[in-house]
Amino acid sequence: MTAEGSKLWGGRFVGATDPVMERFNTSVAYDQRMWDADLTGSRAYVKALRRAGLVSTEEMGAILRGLDQVGEEWRKGAFVLRDGDEDIHTANERRLKELIGTAAGKLHTGRSRNDQVVTDMRLWLRDAVATLTGDALVLISAMVERAAAEIDVLFPGYTHMQRAQPIRWSHWILSHAVALQRDVERLQEIRKRVNILPLGSGAVAGTPFAIDRELLRKELCFDDVSLNSMDATGQRDFVAEFLFWASLCATHLSKMAEDLLLYSTKEFSFVSLSDAYSTGSSLMPQKKNADSLELIRSKAGRIFGRCTGFMMTLKGLPSSYNKDLQEDKEAMFDCYDSILAVLQVAAGVVSTLKINPGAMEAALSPDMLATDLAYYLVRKGVAFRDAHGLAGKAVFTAESKNVPLNQLTLEDLRGISPLVESDVASVWDYAASVEQYAAAGGTAESSVRAQVQQLRAWMARHKPQTQTVKSADAE
Ligand code: ARG
Repeated sequence: MTAEGSKLWGGRFVGATDPVMERFNTSVAYDQRMWDADLTGSRAYVKALRRAGLVSTEEMGAILRGLDQVGEEWRKGAFVLRDGDEDIHTANERRLKELIGTAAGKLHTGRSRNDQVVTDMRLWLRDAVATLTGDALVLISAMVERAAAEIDVLFPGYTHMQRAQPIRWSHWILSHAVALQRDVERLQEIRKRVNILPLGSGAVAGTPFAIDRELLRKELCFDDVSLNSMDATGQRDFVAEFLFWASLCATHLSKMAEDLLLYSTKEFSFVSLSDAYSTGSSLMPQKKNADSLELIRSKAGRIFGRCTGFMMTLKGLPSSYNKDLQEDKEAMFDCYDSILAVLQVAAGVVSTLKINPGAMEAALSPDMLATDLAYYLVRKGVAFRDAHGLAGKAVFTAESKNVPLNQLTLEDLRGISPLVESDVASVWDYAASVEQYAAAGGTAESSVRAQVQQLRAWMARHKPQTQTVKSADAE
């Protein structure tokens, strides 16, 4: 059992912690990922302590140098965790004390791990948001450039998984790019609420010392200072928002993966994945499995599970900090790792897959032009509702005669509506069909090109923001 004297909070304890409890309580195995954020927060904090007269200039210098040394150890992989290092905050402070002695004991003045942990998480997530934005933009760019290059390829647009109307392959690609565009915008929105400084909130009541929170804000490049110390230490809205963000983004990519999985089957044969993103079967030599897409699809479930799990944790809590909140980190890290991998693999899949335009166009069938027949009649003055009924009759007649819709004779069609003339032949043309959809957002070439241009312009405006916190120099 661990001697209580070595613990940050050991003073009032006489008994030792049960080793089972020790393991249950500790978070350092995963929160050590925030070592850098933790040191960054401490560097700023010691400057605020200096300004408040709570440490001397010499003590501040010693602490800053010590923190740099601790950082060096982490960077080199030389930091040694010890029994009793409950979390990253405890570990860094313990090491600082070993390196610089008693001055280290002043660093935590007026600070609590309650405001420290949430500061570290916000710093960490802010960088994570920048990385994710960058990777999402790489994926969007791969999609947009592919859409621009393959704009001439037509294939079936499906609704209810039934052949619906001919569309451009590029239109399909961009439909997924646009969802990701919203994801990037949503992430930028979340960033505003992530980038708020909680440090200086103490455990629950605030700080009794002259800690200049504006100085902390500037040092740590936060946009604003939290308004209420109980809220600042006891809420994890920013984590919940991030988990939901990741869930929705993963859901979008799961949808794209599901489409591509179908399109890559022998039955569809619209696309084939590059070997780099496929795997084989240990039993069946002929198999090429789209594991990349299946894993993208599966991660949506995993991420949403994390989100739901953490919401359940939050749901029963009273105000302010409770240890349950320690669950926030594994959820945040796991969702980050998963969604980052999903974005990167999706970019690889999208940029390397091969399309089979012949199979795509061969999957178009004349029945998919039934809407066009209705529009033909609309252009001859028939009300759409009636035109829909007449085109439906044509479909029925073709089915009864067991011929494709475009093989009905002019007499067949004139029997359905005398307004049909020989120019009806122009309806049976897939390329002309897609060109009707020239209004903004449609699948006509001009409209798809406009989408490409808009997305390119949008990407140029959305370069990820990176925040560099100044390093160790004193005031
Ligand atoms: N490891 C803790 C966490 O992740 C740090 C905060 C601990 N605060 C406390 N009062 N025990 O939440």
